[in-house]
Amino acid sequence: MKTLLAALAFVPATLLAAGGGHPLDRAPIEPRDVISLQAGARTFVNYCLNCHGAQFMRYNRLTDLGLTEAQIRDNLMFAADKVGETMKVSMSVQDGKAWFGVPPPDLSVISRSRGADWLYTYLRTFYRDDKTPSGWNNKVFPNAAMPHVLWKLQAEQNAVEYDRTVRDLVNFLVYVGEPSAQSRKNIGIVVLFVLGVVFVFAYAMKKAFWKDIR
Ligand code: HEC
Repeated sequence: MKTLLAALAFVPATLLAAGGGHPLDRAPIEPRDVISLQAGARTFVNYCLNCHGAQFMRYNRLTDLGLTEAQIRDNLMFAADKVGETMKVSMSVQDGKAWFGVPPPDLSVISRSRGADWLYTYLRTFYRDDKTPSGWNNKVFPNAAMPHVLWKLQAEQNAVEYDRTVRDLVNFLVYVGEPSAQSRKNIGIVVLFVLGVVFVFAYAMKKAFWKDIR
C-alpha cells in the first residue's frame, strides 16, 4: 500500500517532468488520408512493434485503411500468424525492464494520453547525449529510456521527408487510439441528413393538414 501511494504521488511529477517545457509543434495529421495512414502503419510495424505493442488493435481491423487481408499479411505481419490477432509486442515485459529500465508501454491509447502534437514533437526532437544509457536524449521527454529508433531514417531523409514520415506515423497512432472515430463521424452526418429529410416531410405535412382550417 505504501509503495502504491508512493507511486501515485510520483505520477504527477513524472508527467510534469515529461513535458520538458519544450514547445510542441502542431502535428499536421489528416485522419481521412488513407495513404498516410497506410504509410504510418508500415513505419509502426517496422520500427515500433519490436518494443511496443498496440494490444487493442487487431491486424484485420487495418482493412479500415483500404488494405486487403492479403496485403496486411504480406506487408505488415511480422509478429503474428493470424490476421485476427492483436498487435502484440514480441518482447516480454521482463526483458523490456531489464534492457531499458522501463518496459516500453503499450501504444494503443498513447495518442489520447499524450496528444498528437506531443508525439509529433517527441519523435522529431531526439538528440545525442553521452550521459544517458542509450546515448540519446529527447527535448520533450528528458532522459527517456527510449533510443532514437528512427535515427537512420532521419539521417537518410531530408527534413521535409522525415517530418512527413513522422506525420504519417502519428496519424496512424491517432487512428489506433480511436479506430471508430471516422465511421462515427460519418454516421453522425447520415443522421443529420435523415433528420433534415424528416423535417422537410413533417413541414409539408403540417402545411397540408392546416390548409383548409385557416
Ligand atoms: C528499442 C525499443 C524501442 C523501440 C523500437 C521503440 N520504443 Fe518507444 N519506448 C521505449 C522505451 C523503453 C520507452 C519508455 C521510456 C521511458 O519511460 O523512459 C518508450 C517510450 C515511448 C513513448 C512515451 C510513452 C510515455 O511514457 O508516454 C512513446 C510515445 C514511444 N515510445 C513511441 C515509440 C514509437 C512511435 C516507436 C516507433 C517509431 C517506438 N517508440 C519505438 C522503447 C522503444
